[in-house]
Amino acid sequence: MIEHRLIEQMIALIEQKLKQVETTNQVDPLFIDTVIDFIKIYADRTHHGKEEDILFRELSNKQMSDQDRQIMDELVDEHVLGRKITKELVEANAKYRSGEKSTLAIIVSKLRELVNFYPKHIEKEDKVFFPAYMKYLSDEEDHLMLKEFWEFDREMIHKKYRFVLKKLKEW
Ligand SMILES: [Fe+2]
Ligand SMILES: [Fe+2]
Repeated sequence: MIEHRLIEQMIALIEQKLKQVETTNQVDPLFIDTVIDFIKIYADRTHHGKEEDILFRELSNKQMSDQDRQIMDELVDEHVLGRKITKELVEANAKYRSGEKSTLAIIVSKLRELVNFYPKHIEKEDKVFFPAYMKYLSDEEDHLMLKEFWEFDREMIHKKYRFVLKKLKEW
């Protein structure tokens, strides 16, 4: 939930920036690169990564109610949708940077999709799924999961910069 609060700040920033982009009819591709980095590395790999690889994995071994299991499946589908939007944003930004200015409309629509998508997804987790899943885990399991979260986070910065170096070598 703490991580959701940072994602919300990014979404608010995108929303604010969208107004400016629509008035000036231009965007700085570097701004979009930075948004993409945040969404990919923080919101998706770090945050959704912990949800999918640790929390949902733990819960999938439990006898969950049909309703809770259905919500968990929806959350996974929503993560997939978030990745699809981000991929389309990456492609549109590359085209925009190479001079295809008409792709600005796609960039705007993808940013708007992110702005619409994240708050609903976050609300479903904060208000519905997270309070509901607590009953399936013992204090001990909760504690072990938290430790695994820390380790996942600790590794992420190293993964990120190994990836950066790999990309730079291919430049
Ligand atoms: Fe999520
Ligand atoms: Fe989340």
